[in-house]
Amino acid sequence: MADGRRREPPEEDEPADAGRRVLLKYGVVASAIIAAGGIAAITRFATNPAPTTGAATFPRVKVGNVNGLAVGQPVYFAYPLDNEPNLLVKLGVPAKGGVGPGSDIVAFSQVCQHLGCIYGYLTPGASPPCDPSYKAAEPVGYCCCHGSVYDFANGAQVLSGPSPRPQPQVQLEVDPATGDIFAVGMGPPAIFGHDTGSNDVTNDLQGGTPVG
Ligand code: FES
Repeated sequence: MADGRRREPPEEDEPADAGRRVLLKYGVVASAIIAAGGIAAITRFATNPAPTTGAATFPRVKVGNVNGLAVGQPVYFAYPLDNEPNLLVKLGVPAKGGVGPGSDIVAFSQVCQHLGCIYGYLTPGASPPCDPSYKAAEPVGYCCCHGSVYDFANGAQVLSGPSPRPQPQVQLEVDPATGDIFAVGMGPPAIFGHDTGSNDVTNDLQGGTPVG
C-alpha cells in the first residue's frame, strides 16, 4: 500500500495464516487478561500513569528446541515485542547465522520489508498459493502481496521482487545441554514499521510490550 501501513496477505498463504493465528492467540490472551483484570486494572490505570511501551534491551526468550523442529516446518513467535511476528525454521542446509548441529536453524522477522505484509516460507520446490507458476529453487520467504522473495540461507537477502532490503534476522543461541533455542536480539535493518529503512535496531524495541 502506498501509505506504508501493514497489510494482510491473501487468505490462501498458509504460513501467513499460521502467523496470523499466532497473533490472534496473543490477542485472545490479551483480551482474557484484560477481562480478568476487570475493575482492578481500571483502578490501577486511574491512579498510575500508563507505562511507556517498549524495552531498553533485547530480551532473551526461548523460542524452540533443536529436537522439536522438522526441516521445512516453521514455528511462529513474537519478538522482541508481542506485536512483532517472526518465523523460526530448520532449513536442512547450512545457513548464514544458522544455529543447531547443522547450522541450519534461522529466524527472521515475518513483516515484509517492502510494505509490511506478513509473508510465508517455502521449501525448495514448493510454490506459493498465490503464484503456482513459481517454484522455489532454495529455502525462501515469499511475500504474496507483491512477490518479494528472500533467501533464507543467506541472511534473507532479496532474491527478487520490489523489497529494498533483506529481512531482519533474529539472533539465536542454543543451550548445548538442553537444545533449547533462545532469541537474544535482532540484526538490522529495523523491523518494517519501526523506522523503515533504518539500521537502528533499537527502534524494534519501541511501540509495544516486550515478550517475556
Ligand atoms: S509487502 Fe510488497 S512484496 Fe511484501
